[in-house]
Amino acid sequence: MADSAELRVGDQTINLPIIEGSEGERGLDISKLRSQTGLITLDPGYGNTGSCQSAITFIDGEKGILRYRGIPIEQLAEKSTFLEVAYLLIHGKLPTQAELEEYVGSITLHTMLHEDFRSFFGALPKDAHPMAACSAAVGALSTFYPDSLDPSDERQLEISIHRLIAKMPNMAACAYKHSIGQPLIYPRNDLSYAANFMHMMFATPCEHYEVDPVIEKVLDLLLILHADHEQNCSTSTVRLVGSSMVNLFASVSAGINALWGRSHGGANQEVIEMLARIRDEGITTKQFVDRAKAGDDNARLMGFGHRVYKNFDPRMKIIKKACFDVLEKLGVRTKLLEIAVELEEIALKDDYFVERKLYPNVDFYSGVIYNAIGTPANMFTAIFALGRLPGWIAQWSEMHDDPAFKIGRPRQIYTGETMSDYVPIEKR
Ligand code: SDX
Repeated sequence: MADSAELRVGDQTINLPIIEGSEGERGLDISKLRSQTGLITLDPGYGNTGSCQSAITFIDGEKGILRYRGIPIEQLAEKSTFLEVAYLLIHGKLPTQAELEEYVGSITLHTMLHEDFRSFFGALPKDAHPMAACSAAVGALSTFYPDSLDPSDERQLEISIHRLIAKMPNMAACAYKHSIGQPLIYPRNDLSYAANFMHMMFATPCEHYEVDPVIEKVLDLLLILHADHEQNCSTSTVRLVGSSMVNLFASVSAGINALWGRSHGGANQEVIEMLARIRDEGITTKQFVDRAKAGDDNARLMGFGHRVYKNFDPRMKIIKKACFDVLEKLGVRTKLLEIAVELEEIALKDDYFVERKLYPNVDFYSGVIYNAIGTPANMFTAIFALGRLPGWIAQWSEMHDDPAFKIGRPRQIYTGETMSDYVPIEKR
């Protein structure tokens, strides 16, 4: 196959090298385009533009393939645990038993928050969205740990990574507890990562709280499924912010804000609100789909569509199965799941969606599970952020280790006013 492409501009012809990845993906290297031709490229939304070469996650949108460090998501979902997946993404290999025990032990010992965080959360309005609270709290970590902010210091970076992974579930739970006026709950070192989060979310000082193992397992699975997804919006945000050499906490705080958007991670909250609206307004799923097709922005079929997956989202298949399993085990019957299944069936047969290659994505069924295990809708995206954290960290670290690393600074095509003089106010 060709290893370069010819570009003819006027009477100039240049060769652009073609780079090929380990899975056969090919890309034009345009890093010398402007210096050779004076031209830049334009690609709103970066649908055709690679920002980096990465060895962390591979997605094939046509075949519905997702692999973390080469391992299929289906195998990790069945056999791994979230902290083992975090280790895999960040360190590039599965840990040995000893490495995993040390990793889990270290993270467990960092789950407590500085006591001043109690007044931090106490200062927030009761109705503060958990994503706002989490991005603020993660950003504030850089004020509590000024000794570990240097992105180029291995030791400082390692402790920051462990603190982040350990403390984010605590922060998310604090945001929730503060919003319902309940005491903030300390983490417990005898619980797993997922169980500890559920404990901090739902325990109270008044009585013993036992985490249902069914819930513990499905939450761990959901965290695995959300752990990384190559150069999505929030990951690209973490990379771009991190490229300025700011610390990891500030970079992840920016990523949390990007994830919050309804076109991205915020969609999981929008999906459950959409399902509840259909249930409560008594409209049929067909009526809703017709509104979505008509381009009614209040009726966009949330949880459908994806920039990369044009066939199916492998994560959705796993989550949909888990939905049925968990609701049956918990003895929960919910109209929301029935509505979701109906919407999927109608949309997948409708030319509007088929022609645009719109399929259910990771957010379509996840909220049904979060709802069934008792989490409020405004916490769904915060749980997505807990899952995505190791991916953000791995991608940020890979960027810093990349020999081609430099600050991200895109160009533009200027379309504004040509040169004009300042007009004194008396002459305007
Ligand atoms: C995530 O990038 C990632 O990997 C993200 C993610 C991750 O793990 O990090 O996978 C997580 O963010 C999943 C996506 C969650 N968002 C939603 O579910 C929100 C609903 N979906 C969309 O808004 C949309 O599909 C996007 C944002 C996901 C993708 O947008 P694109 O690729 O820019 O596609 P588009 O908006 O240009 O849509 C193409 C066409 C348009 O119609 P036409 O202008 O061609 O007539 O499809 C239509 C859109 O109007 N369309 C929809 C639709 N999504 C797209 N129509 C109805 N319902 C929808 N959900």
